[in-house]
Amino acid sequence: MPESIYGNQKETLPLVMKHIVNEIKNYNEENRIKTGHPVYEHLICRIKSEDSMREKLRRKGVEESPYGALRILRDSIGIRIVTGFVDDIYTNIDYLRKLPGCRVVKEKDYVRQAKENGYRSYHMILEYLAPFRDIEGAEPGSYFIEVQLRTIAMDCWASLEHEMKYKRTIANQQMLVNELKRCADELASCDITMQTIRNLIRESDESPGASV
Ligand code: GTP
Ligand code: MG
Repeated sequence: MPESIYGNQKETLPLVMKHIVNEIKNYNEENRIKTGHPVYEHLICRIKSEDSMREKLRRKGVEESPYGALRILRDSIGIRIVTGFVDDIYTNIDYLRKLPGCRVVKEKDYVRQAKENGYRSYHMILEYLAPFRDIEGAEPGSYFIEVQLRTIAMDCWASLEHEMKYKRTIANQQMLVNELKRCADELASCDITMQTIRNLIRESDESPGASV
């Protein structure tokens, strides 16, 4: 069997992922107990497959080695947090910043500044110190993690757009791109309305009788 692109970290990466995912689940649960509401609906996580990692290293002209996969590229561990509402994205970001051993090394706000095609999501690269020996022998070890945060509506759109990207032979490509962009903007508008409705409901919860 060929050696893993992750070298001696192959077994460790899932443990690191589990470690931070537990921390995230914990703050969600604590928030639910405290306020009655979770700060996200669900999360998914993955270790980038060997094949996709090798393909990306080649595509980006990065050395095809564990060092390239873990230190130069920074999305071997990926977590996607899917929220009900736009404000929750920023609440999660505040929680992530406060996680022990966590440092934000890069972030892109495609929520406030959508990509030209309509893509919306908040991206962060975290450097995370976890109780494992890393590729350089340090313990606790340092690991990079890519976190994407988006609402259910943004997630729904991104899945469809992702699917379309790989169908290059599709007819009327430009028309579909335009229609998808229109959908993205309509979904964003719904997200704003839903956020407003939630705020109004919560305000009236806080001052019972005020709305009677
Ligand atoms: P790489 O991480 O190297 O791909 O480049 P980058 O850091 O410039 O990328 P960026 O942070 O913009 O995006 C990283 C990830 O976000 C991608 O691998 C996708 O999962 C997702 N993403 C970014 N743009 C789009 C988009 O237009 N559509 C969809 N569906 N997903 C996107
Ligand atoms: Mg990336």
